[in-house]
Parts: sequence; C-alpha cells; structure tokens
Amino acid sequence: MNTFSDRVSRIRVSSTIAVTIEADRLRSEGVDLIDFGAGEPDFPTPEHIKQAGVAAIGANFTRYTPAGGTTELKKAICAWHTRELESAYTPAETIVTVGGKHAIFNTVSALLNAGDETIIPVPYWVSFRDMVEYCGGTCVFVPTREEDGYELTVPAVEKAITPKTRLMILNSPNNPSGAVVRPEVMEEIAHLVTGRGIWLMTDECYCHLVYGSKPFSLGKLAAADPKVRARLVVAGSLSKTFAMTGWRLGYALAPKELIGEMLKLQSHSTSNPTSIVQKAAMAALAGPMDSVDAMRREYEKRRNFIVEGLRSIHGLACPMPSGAFYAYPNIGKYLRMNGTKTASDLCSRMLREAGVAVVPGEAFGTNEHFRLSYATSMEDLSKGLDRMRKFFAAF
Ligand SMILES: Cc1ncc(COP(=O)(O)O)c(C=O)c1O
Repeated sequence: MNTFSDRVSRIRVSSTIAVTIEADRLRSEGVDLIDFGAGEPDFPTPEHIKQAGVAAIGANFTRYTPAGGTTELKKAICAWHTRELESAYTPAETIVTVGGKHAIFNTVSALLNAGDETIIPVPYWVSFRDMVEYCGGTCVFVPTREEDGYELTVPAVEKAITPKTRLMILNSPNNPSGAVVRPEVMEEIAHLVTGRGIWLMTDECYCHLVYGSKPFSLGKLAAADPKVRARLVVAGSLSKTFAMTGWRLGYALAPKELIGEMLKLQSHSTSNPTSIVQKAAMAALAGPMDSVDAMRREYEKRRNFIVEGLRSIHGLACPMPSGAFYAYPNIGKYLRMNGTKTASDLCSRMLREAGVAVVPGEAFGTNEHFRLSYATSMEDLSKGLDRMRKFFAAF
C-alpha cells in the first residue's frame, strides 16, 4: 500500500521550481550562475503598488476578508478587465485567488471527474498536466509545429475532442514557447469547444506581454456571446503584468455557478488572499499602466537580443516568440552527441559546465528544446549567451 495518497503520488514537483532549487543550491556553494530558469519579472513592483500595501498595514487592514476576495477588489478587477480587454464581467462572476496558479487549480478541481479528458496544446505549462492528473483527469495533448511558430490550429483541436472531453486549456501567450494564438483563431476555438458543451479555460496571465499585437482576452467574445460565456473561464494574474510574483494575487472570471463551486473549495483551503495584498492589487488595477508598458518595451528589446544571439549559435534554431518572456530554442542537433541523450542531460551539463540555468523541454512536453526566460538584465543575457556559445562550440 502507498504511504501517501494516490492523488499526490500521480504528480511530480514542478520542474521549473526544481531548476530554481538546484540553481539556489549551486549559488549557495559559491557557483557563479546565470539563471534563465525562473519565469518571473526581474523588475521591482511599481512604487505606487508597494505603497498601497504599506498603507494597508498602517491602516490595520490585516484581518480576514471574504474568502473569495473583497467586493471592492472584485469590482476593480472587472473594471480593469473591461477597460483593458473589453470584457463585461460582474463581481458575482469573479473570484480572487492566491496567484493565478490557484485560480487554475480551483477551476480544474471544480470541473473534473475521474477519467474526464482535458485537451492541452503542446508545449504546455508544466502545472496544467499535473493539476489535471491530480484531479484524476486524463490529458489529451494537441501537437503544434515548431515550423509554424507553435501556432495552434482549429482542426488540431477538433481532432482531439472525444465524448469524454470535459475541458480544454488554452494559454496564449504561451509558456514556454512565447507563441501567441491570433484572436480570430482563439475565437474559432472558443466557438468550437463551448459549442460542444466543453469548458474552456483560457490562461491569460501573459496577455499584456505581447510584441507587435494588442493584448487580447477571450472575455471580449464572452461579452458578446452568451453561449461562450456559459462555458468559459478566464484565469488571470497580477504576477507578470505588474511584477508582483511574490505577492500572490490572481483571479478567475466565469459563470457565477462555477465561481460558487470554486469558492466552496477556497473557503476550506486557503480562505482569502492576503488582505494587504488585496489593497495593493486595487492600486495596481486602478492606477496608471505606464510601468506595464515600460516593462513590455524592455522585454521586447531583450527578446530581440536573445533570439538573435541564440540563432547565431551554430546548430541552434529558435522561432521568434510573440509574447511572454521566454525563448524556446531547438537543441536537437546537439542531442545524441557525446552521450547526451536528452534535453535534461544537456541542460544539466550546461548548468554544471557553463553555469547557465535553463529548463529542459521535457517539462513542457517536447524532447528537443529548452526554455530560457529573458526576464533578466541585458548584462546577464549577454554573459549567458557568451557562456552558451562557448559551451556549444566545445560540445
Ligand atoms: C502559463 C502560466 N500560468 C499561470 C501562472 C501562474 O502565475 P502566478 O501563480 O504567479 O499568478 C504562470 C506562472 O509562471 C504561468 O507561466
């Protein structure tokens, strides 16, 4: 008999977090490391947001709030989402969560029964798979093509639908590939999936980090189409948009019946997101968006720099990502050389021999890639590129 539950035995520690732990360990041993592993902004949280958090402590806003967040914050989320992304949600259709991950976990938990299938495009954010498996669901992976910049197609989604399909998870801009699904394709997928009575969860935590297009949310379609709205969950987060990863504040927008089920779960687990963080989130959402624009412009410069650099390394190929802050180069040419069989092997060697931390593609469902986060300084990007160039030259 297993000592631990079947549920928890089905999942693994998040490999992105595993890389962070290993990088921390090496750093504590004095290893000079360039860390492209962590998927988080290197910018500080904008000043007016920090001050709102400090003011909340000063004002003793330090007690329990309603488990699903304060009504004023739910109103602020809806107003911001309407202003920025043209949705039309109400506070009754909103739940505030402890980070975006929590919103996704609660959605998956509230929707899946054992054996239910969930469609997940590849490459995928590692937690989608583990959350579905934790809840007893089965993942049905939909391939995308590197040659097409990993863009998802409607026929590929349609092929994956079976009578057991309960949920599809869409993530654009995508972690790890940085691919952005065009709004018209997102809408077509939404019509297809929800039209068959299947739930669609759109993880839009990177939606403000797009280069060359405007932020887009399927919430806009839900505002115009009640059939889509009845089966759509928009999961969002302040983590990346406002450089607030450590504060832990996310949300879900969905039909109020589903929000009610998620609230039940939340009321027995985390209860409310931290009270003072909710005040800081109010300042983020009601305040100016200039710092978000400034960060986006900086990421774009870094993206151009790192992709050009990676492409100049002999044997590496790298599609141009259109969003988020990740590059996903193909390292297939180097695999099976010198006993290096897998992307994980290669990434471990690169960590040990070159002092560069990246996340191997196996974590995201592909075998010949690694994910590099360019949410780090130009200086580190440049140093890391030099190290990678030498590492691959000596391979
Ligand atoms: C695709 C995706 N969704 C959701 C999240 C959740 O972020 P958080 O829980 O910090 O809001 C992340 C974080 O890395 C992510 O990459």
